[in-house]
Amino acid sequence: MTDIDIHGGLIKQLQDAQAKFGYVSQHEVKRISKEFNIAESEIYGVITFYSQFRLKPLGKHTIKVCRGTACHVSGSLELVTEVRELLGLLDGEDTTKDLRFTLEEVACLGCCSLAPAVMINKDVFGKVNRDKLSKILESYK
Ligand code: FES
Repeated sequence: MTDIDIHGGLIKQLQDAQAKFGYVSQHEVKRISKEFNIAESEIYGVITFYSQFRLKPLGKHTIKVCRGTACHVSGSLELVTEVRELLGLLDGEDTTKDLRFTLEEVACLGCCSLAPAVMINKDVFGKVNRDKLSKILESYK
């Protein structure tokens, strides 16, 4: 097998693992390492290179706070801080300990006239402020 075959096969294995479990676990890295005879450190290098891969499980609900320009000028950075406070997320954490919520900052959600916008799962909320945010999050608990 060439390096390209191995790399393509590795990516496919990582995608399959993530599709099945929602993230690539240490167990999956060990399994893939043995299957491809590649060092685990190399696999972690691939996982951390591509933003599509996660090393931690996702929460049940994904909160996407838009950080596009229209939302930024409408206070989306403060919304990120407020989401983190309301969920009790520490620095460096993006998922609550109970795996209920995962926070993501994303580029334009495509509804700039509603800035600042937040998406939870497939539901979009516009003109979000702290009060509205608190009520929205409560409805997903
Ligand atoms: S910039 Fe936020 S929806 Fe477009």
